[in-house]
Amino acid sequence: MNFDLTIRNGRLSTDTETFYADIGVRDGVIVAIEPSLPAGASDIDAKGRWVLPGGIDSHCHVEQLSGMGMMCADDFYSATVSAAFGGTTTIIPFAAQHRGNHIPEVVADYSKRAADKAVIDYGIHLILADPTEEALNTHLPELIRNGITSFKIYMTYDRMRLDDYQILDVLEVADREGALVMVHAENNDMIRWIARRLVERGLTAPKYHAVAHTPLAETEATNRVIALAELADVPLLIVHVSGLEAIRVIHSSQALGIPIHAETCPQYLFLTAEDIDLPGTEGAKFCCSPPPRDAASQNAVWEALIQGTLQIYSSDHAPYRYDESGKLPKGEATTFKDMANGVPGIEVRMPLLFSEAVMTGRMTIERFVAVTSTNHARTYGMYPKKGGITVGADADLAIWNPEKRVVISTAMLHDKVGYTPYEGREVRGWPEVVISRGRIVVDPQGLHAEPGSGQFIKRGTPEPVLRQRLNGNPNSVMRKYFS
Ligand code: URP
Ligand code: ZN
Ligand code: ZN
Repeated sequence: MNFDLTIRNGRLSTDTETFYADIGVRDGVIVAIEPSLPAGASDIDAKGRWVLPGGIDSHCHVEQLSGMGMMCADDFYSATVSAAFGGTTTIIPFAAQHRGNHIPEVVADYSKRAADKAVIDYGIHLILADPTEEALNTHLPELIRNGITSFKIYMTYDRMRLDDYQILDVLEVADREGALVMVHAENNDMIRWIARRLVERGLTAPKYHAVAHTPLAETEATNRVIALAELADVPLLIVHVSGLEAIRVIHSSQALGIPIHAETCPQYLFLTAEDIDLPGTEGAKFCCSPPPRDAASQNAVWEALIQGTLQIYSSDHAPYRYDESGKLPKGEATTFKDMANGVPGIEVRMPLLFSEAVMTGRMTIERFVAVTSTNHARTYGMYPKKGGITVGADADLAIWNPEKRVVISTAMLHDKVGYTPYEGREVRGWPEVVISRGRIVVDPQGLHAEPGSGQFIKRGTPEPVLRQRLNGNPNSVMRKYFS
């Protein structure tokens, strides 16, 4: 058998097993996994290296206008290049609807932006801010048929938030049409109420962002949206989980067989609220919503990701520069309420976890593969094409040198943000060669992919990775009266 590419002598890991084998690739697809294969037209000697499925980053903001009207610093080129240098081979960013926007136009515009710039494959989620009758009955079903099978909704931000009635409407459509709803769960009024009082007292430094975004706001909204999902008897996914109490609520639901999936991000594992407490406006570089919490919550996030309450680890890369375009719209006079929310992390997402979880023995390599890749592929309808190392899968692979030590710095990263919250941290382990559909995108010599070489992934029906109750919620009003 002839191969376009072989990767030989490597240590392979999937989400379930680790073994030594050679991989043969033809036409971008893995066609052989054997103890020993002859060299292909291109041949990589992976002796001493770990060969893993390429990462999937299912929550990142790219070339997107925020709820506050600020444009991301990264476009599809810089974001996908940066992702690839960090071992990621697929991203799923957001086409963002703002109120009054016509969904087909939003998605067409976003797809056009991606098509000629992406260097790795990408899916698209929709951010839904205006669930009109036409959106619910016509536009969402149409998107789902076209492979956009997940929608993010917000319970906070004045200009994005949906009320409980609207959330139920969206859940109903997702269930009927085969999509997954992703929820930003924070109580808007609690945050507004605290923020107003802080500002009235002149407490406007970035560290007060974490005070306004109290863990109670996250816990309350998490609890409420789970109740809505129970009423509708529909699975959902709670994004960027940060707090111990929110984790408790999610864990209790899962223990009862309620399919509540949940995601966390590097900022909740590697930062705490103390990082925001810096002189002047410097702390803005660490502000995201929800914010990094205290050490107890940080530990809870670690445990939940290792044990399984959290199934997905994404970057929530929100590339806003530390200048007027993002973090400091009013210069030094910027208050925590004015600045763009979010932190960058698309390139360091996997190396940080690899170093601090796998190389320390805290997390198995198989769990690392699950939370950085396979669970994303399943949850968002791309498995087994993406997220694994199996015959028939796309040859999306990252070849890691587990001993390589790298000091993270803004200068070495490929995004356009101009800072990293992880400046100066040393990590052990780095993806040296990154392959997308059999093409070497990154190797030690640098980048090899052309803009536009990434492809849109038309996704299928999301596949819950959590075990679920047989026959759903027996008390669901939906099931009893409306199905
Ligand atoms: O602060 C954050 N996470 N900003 C990005 C937008 C979002 O809500 O995910
Ligand atoms: Zn969010
Ligand atoms: Zn986000």
